[in-house]
Amino acid sequence: MGFSTDAIHAGVRPDPATGAVMTPIYQTSTYAYEGLGRGKGYDYARTINPTRSALEENLAKLEGGMAAYAFASGMSAIHTVMTLLKTGDHVVVGNNVYGGTYRLFARVLEDFGLRFSYVDTSVLKNVESALRPETRMVYIETPTNPIMTLTDIEATAALCRKRKLISVVDNTFLTPFFQRPLALGADIVVHSTTKYLNGHSDSVGGAAILARPEHAERIKFVQNSAGAILSPFDSWLVLRGIKTLPLRMRAHDAAGREVARWLVGQSKIERVLYPGLPAHPQHDLASRQASGFGGMISFVLKAGVDVTRFFDSLRLCAIAESLGGIETLVCQPSTMTHASVPEEDRRRLGLTDSLVRISVGCEDVQDIVADLAQALARA
Ligand SMILES: Cc1ncc(COP(=O)(O)O)c(C=O)c1O
Repeated sequence: MGFSTDAIHAGVRPDPATGAVMTPIYQTSTYAYEGLGRGKGYDYARTINPTRSALEENLAKLEGGMAAYAFASGMSAIHTVMTLLKTGDHVVVGNNVYGGTYRLFARVLEDFGLRFSYVDTSVLKNVESALRPETRMVYIETPTNPIMTLTDIEATAALCRKRKLISVVDNTFLTPFFQRPLALGADIVVHSTTKYLNGHSDSVGGAAILARPEHAERIKFVQNSAGAILSPFDSWLVLRGIKTLPLRMRAHDAAGREVARWLVGQSKIERVLYPGLPAHPQHDLASRQASGFGGMISFVLKAGVDVTRFFDSLRLCAIAESLGGIETLVCQPSTMTHASVPEEDRRRLGLTDSLVRISVGCEDVQDIVADLAQALARA
């Protein structure tokens, strides 16, 4: 089946009790047995819930994995994936991962004896040089948030396979509609479903999609043991959101390209970071490993432009963390999403207070541009 057909139908069957076409929200904590030792395959809702199972089957299909598990947040999905490692293991991580991912690694998991090296994974040699005898995993986001640097998934996954390392890709920004890391050889995909997959800024959730049975078995075990599951209602919301994922991603992509082109021509803007622009240093890689560029754009305001005034003048675009919803959101990563990245690292990455990130929504693009234009004019 095509992607749109799978987005609508994978994991979804008419409800056996009533024939309801849409998967019901099974808001229950437990299930009655028909008799002692005679259950219907459902025992307790931390372990299994039909609404969550439908979403998990859908996600596995869309990412091309053998199994998927849905979690209470993107961070709990990432946390659970890290339980594949043991004390003393070392991980090579992209040096511009989401600030919360960095915080989990540096300020929580280091205390449990995991070790992390942060490198610019856009250069494969940097990954190779960072490997140690105890390295077990390479963890990347591509494109990165918010600098929009790409990592070659196929080359990185091939290196990992050669060295028997687990390759993990955070695919939140592009979603399987535009980019399928497992098909490019990666072992694990993680998502914040809070973003494009749910798509309506009304649910927090996460997912891990696995290519290998041994990883799937362990993640399922830890999901049940630690219990950071996605609720039935949130599972239903994400499943519903995914039905329109192809429609929304096409719209985000078209508007993203148009807004990026417009930003390039503005006198108060120094630089626009968007892989869809031919001037982006990795435009070719972006075109090769993904089928679209999406709606995430960052740009740098020129020195002397009043950053606070720019933000405060926005009327349509909300100043907010998060991304991937149908409404346009604008943020200052240095003080918002990436505030937990040490100041020195932020400076090195170019993550200054003049860097603005936009998640371009599905409003009429001329309204988004008009709002940005009037805010720039006042800044
Ligand atoms: C790329 C990326 N990965 C993971 C996360 C964490 O997801 P959540 O906020 O759902 O825990 C975020 C959140 O912003 C993100 O942008």
